[in-house]
Amino acid sequence: MLFKRRTHTCGDLREVNIGESVVLNGWVDTRRDLGGVIFIDLRDRYGITQVLFEPTFNKDSHELAKQLRTEFVISVEGKVRKRPEGTENSEISTGNIDVMVEKLVILNEAVTPPFPIKNNIDVNEDLRLKFRYLDLRRKEMQSNLIMRHKIAQTARRYFDSQSFIEIETPVLMKSTPEGARDFLVPSRLHKGKFYALPQSPQQYKQLLMVSGFDRYFQIVKCFRDEDLRADRQPEFTQIDLEMSFIDQEDVFGIMEGFMKILLKEIKDYDLQTPILRLSFNDAMEKYGIDKPDLRFGLEMITMTDIFSKSEFRVFKDTIESNGIITGLLAEKCGDYTRNQLDALTEFAKKQGAGGLIWMRVKENELEAPIAKFLSDEEKKNIVARLNAKPGDLIFMISGPRLKALSAMGQLRLEMAERLNLISPDAPPALLWVTDFPLFEWDEETKRFYAMHHPFTSPRVEDIELMETNPGAVKARAYDLVLNGNEIAGGSIRIHNSKLQALMFKTLGITGQEAEEKFGFLMNAFKYGAPPHGGMAFGLDRLVMLLAGRNSIREVMAFPKTSSGMSLMDDSPSNVDADQLKDLHIKLR
Ligand code: AMO
Repeated sequence: MLFKRRTHTCGDLREVNIGESVVLNGWVDTRRDLGGVIFIDLRDRYGITQVLFEPTFNKDSHELAKQLRTEFVISVEGKVRKRPEGTENSEISTGNIDVMVEKLVILNEAVTPPFPIKNNIDVNEDLRLKFRYLDLRRKEMQSNLIMRHKIAQTARRYFDSQSFIEIETPVLMKSTPEGARDFLVPSRLHKGKFYALPQSPQQYKQLLMVSGFDRYFQIVKCFRDEDLRADRQPEFTQIDLEMSFIDQEDVFGIMEGFMKILLKEIKDYDLQTPILRLSFNDAMEKYGIDKPDLRFGLEMITMTDIFSKSEFRVFKDTIESNGIITGLLAEKCGDYTRNQLDALTEFAKKQGAGGLIWMRVKENELEAPIAKFLSDEEKKNIVARLNAKPGDLIFMISGPRLKALSAMGQLRLEMAERLNLISPDAPPALLWVTDFPLFEWDEETKRFYAMHHPFTSPRVEDIELMETNPGAVKARAYDLVLNGNEIAGGSIRIHNSKLQALMFKTLGITGQEAEEKFGFLMNAFKYGAPPHGGMAFGLDRLVMLLAGRNSIREVMAFPKTSSGMSLMDDSPSNVDADQLKDLHIKLR
C-alpha cells in the first residue's frame, strides 16, 4: 500500500509548526464525531496529536474517516493550525495545535482490543499478559520499558568509562548446583546428556579473570527454576561484573559511582556517598531482615540483658537456650484494641514467632497480660530502653535468635504499613549489607550450604574456623539494598585451589564430585588466578524500584505468570513426538 511516511512523530508538533504541511502515521487513540467534524487523537510512542476531518475542507477524507475505529493504523497529511481559543489541551505537549487533514490513508484496520489502551486500567493481569503486545501499547508500559532502556544504556556508558569490557558468555552450559534448580536442555548430538541454562555467568566471569580481562561486565539473561514471586521470574536480567586485583572497597567504589550517576540521570537525585553500611548481624538485630527498608525508622531493640534474672518462664527458657528477646516501640499506638492486638499476634505467629508480647504504656505502669510476671526494675528498664512514653505500645518477641528477629522484622514492616510510615516521595534508601555468614545450616539435610555460592571467600581472619566452627565464619560477601529490596549481590572470590578445596570439604562436596562439577574452574585456578571479586545487579528489580512499580513483570516486555506460564504463546507446551525422539526423550 502506498502511503506517505511521517514527517513528524505524534509528539513533535508545536506552535512554531503552524502553517506547515505535515504527514503523521500512527494509531487511532480516540474518535469523536461532533456534528459533522470528526476528531481523531492520533497516537504513537512519542505522544498524541489531534487531527480533524471537516467535510467542507476535504469531503473524501471526511467520508473515509467515518470508517475509523480505535486502533486503526492510519497515515494523514494536512496542515498544522492553532487550536481555536478555549480548546487547547495543556495535558499534552502538542495541545496548542491540531492538524486539519487533507488526505487519509487507512494502513490497517483493527478489531476491538480486549481492554482499553490507556493508563490505570482495571483489568486482570492474565488478560494483559495474553495480549501483551496491546498492553505494551499503553503509555505507562511504554515509559517503563523506556526507563529500562535508559538504565541499561547508563550502565553500558558507565562501565565502559571505567574500562570494563562487555563479554558474552554461553547460554548453554554445564549444570552446576548453585542455589536454585537449573533449567535443562537435552542434547540431540549427545544422547542422554544435558546442557543447563546459566543461573548466572558466575564461573565464566571468574574464568575471564584468569584470562586477564581484569574488568568484565555483561547485561545478561539468567535462568532459575524456582518458585516465583512479585520480584522473581524464571528468566531475568543481571548487570553482571567482575574485577581483578581488587578488594571489597574497590567493588563498593565502582558500584557507588554507578548508583550516583544512575540516580542522577533517572531520578535527578543526588546520592551522597559513601553509602551506609550495616553488618548482617546489625541488620538482623535492628531490622530483623538482611534487606532492611530504611525509608522509615521503627528500629528493633535487643532487650535480652534486661531479663537476665527474670522469673518469667518464656524469657527464662529463651535465655537458657541462647535465644534473644527483641522489642519494638509503636509510638502512640497504646489505644490499639484487643482485636487489633490479637490480629497482630496471629500475624507474628505466622511469621514464625512463638507468640507476641504487647504492653500498653500508661502514666506509671505497663498494662500487659505478662505485667504480673515482671519486676518493677524490669518494667522500668523496658520503658527506658525503648524510650517509651505514655500512650505508646510495646511489642516483644522472645525465642531462637534468627526466628525471633525475623518475625519481629516482619512485624516492623507490617506496622510501617499500618502507620503509613513510607511516604511515596521518600528519597531512595540505599545501604550495603556486609559480613554475611559464609555458611547456612540446614536442619532438614543436617549440612551446611553456601549462603551465596561456593566460590565466595571467607574473611581471611576466619579461615582457620572453617574446619572447627563453620557456622561462625563470615564471608567477604555483600548485598546492595534499595528500599527493602536486594538489588545486587556479590563477593570477593576464592582464587586459590587449596582454599576452594577446603570450602568444598566443608560443604560436604567430595573431591570427586567437586572435580566433576567444578573441575574446569579449579583447574583454571592452577594457572595463575588473580585475586578477584564482583557483583551482579538484578536489572529488573532496579527498574521496578526506580519506576515505582511493585512487580518486576511491569518492567519486563514479555514476562511469565507466577506459575511460570507465558500466556501469550502458551508455553511451556507439548512438542511433537518426533522432536522428543530426536532428543532421545521418552515422557513418563
Ligand atoms: P545473586 O543470586 O544474588 O548473585 O543475584 C544477583 C541479583 O539478581 C537478582 N535476582 C533476581 N531477579 C529476578 N528474578 C530472580 N529469580 C532473581 N534472582 C536473583 C537480585 C540479586 O541481587 N553470581 C552472583 C553475583 C556475584 O556474586 O557476582 C549472583 O547471581 O536482584
